[in-house]
Amino acid sequence: MVLPVSIIGANVLRQVAKDIDKDYPKLKEFIDDLFETMYDSDGVGLAAPQVNKSIRLFVVDASPMEEEDPELKDFKKVFINAHITERSGDIISMEEGCLSIPGIREEVKRETKIRIEYYDENWEFHDEYFEGMAARVIQHEYDHLDGILFTDKVSPLTKRLLKGKLRDISRGKFSAHYKVRLGDGRVA
Ligand code: NI
Repeated sequence: MVLPVSIIGANVLRQVAKDIDKDYPKLKEFIDDLFETMYDSDGVGLAAPQVNKSIRLFVVDASPMEEEDPELKDFKKVFINAHITERSGDIISMEEGCLSIPGIREEVKRETKIRIEYYDENWEFHDEYFEGMAARVIQHEYDHLDGILFTDKVSPLTKRLLKGKLRDISRGKFSAHYKVRLGDGRVA
């Protein structure tokens, strides 16, 4: 089922999400819904808070970006109870966008290498390193679990320039080709 994507201004996007247990109700269906919603909105990642659930879970499928980076060929994963334990490497600036902030793309600086602990959809534990584009996609989605949006990480000048636009978006002044949920609960 395709779920509405929460838009900047929604409280859930600002909460620190919680770990879940193995007996979390209807987890498999929820993961399926996350993937379906992500594909429907042409995203390469989607975090649970973006569909109004404050739990530490996100999915990624960056395989469509294979042409830009061959290492992304099979980069389709589920991250449950994700915790980044190390960030290292160079700090690189790259343009990002977010389904929760339609129409905005800005340069964001991030480390090129991370170490992350998580469980997959079969509750297998992983402690892994990721680099390059994979590390970037993970860090963007991971930030959603901590209530952080990429527009929080832009330069002070860009932040000032964005202020009015972000306010407009939170009030519903934007166009998106996917189902959305505004901060006041309106679904469009
Ligand atoms: Ni995002």
